[in-house]
Amino acid sequence: MPTRAWFPTLVYHEPLQKSGLKKLNDEIADECQKLREFDQAGRQWSAKNYPGGYTSYASLNTLHRFSSTFEALERKLNRHVRAFAKDLDMDLKGRSISMTDCWVNIMPPTAAHSMHLHPLSFISGTYYVATPPNCPGLKFEDPRLAHLMAAPPKKANARDSNRTYTTYPAQAGHVILFESWLRHEVAQNRSDAERISISFNYAWS
Ligand SMILES: [Fe+2]
Repeated sequence: MPTRAWFPTLVYHEPLQKSGLKKLNDEIADECQKLREFDQAGRQWSAKNYPGGYTSYASLNTLHRFSSTFEALERKLNRHVRAFAKDLDMDLKGRSISMTDCWVNIMPPTAAHSMHLHPLSFISGTYYVATPPNCPGLKFEDPRLAHLMAAPPKKANARDSNRTYTTYPAQAGHVILFESWLRHEVAQNRSDAERISISFNYAWS
């Protein structure tokens, strides 16, 4: 093969654990609803910055530090983040990783989350708690898009690895991890129920 692929963009997608996901997600969903009721500051922030939805991103964003439910989730996610860092050939020998932020996102029908990245961390991700049929997935953008200059458009049947965007379906019980610089968005929720997810950032030291 004269042409080889370099500088791949890796995305990790796995079930959080082998069994018990339904029970776990019911517990987490219940806690998310209670948080929304309790978090007046978050509801106010969301009304301005997350139209139609609720996120605790700007109000309660260290949930793993004061909720046993989220602390347990953190412990389970640590294993996945380590596995992903290994796939990325990151040298974490003698180093530690830690969850720095963890917040709730509730997207009722019509809510959307525009393109963004996660500053001040190295691996970020989302755990899916409730994903009604036809709810939007997580759409990633080719990080080289700004450098494409005069490139012609891609073929309609381009290989997946050559596409400018790729969308992972949101699947309850699954975790998606990516390097924090990778831009992503969630399209409008066109299902008729709430889509619930937990997002988080990791740092290393
Ligand atoms: Fe995000």
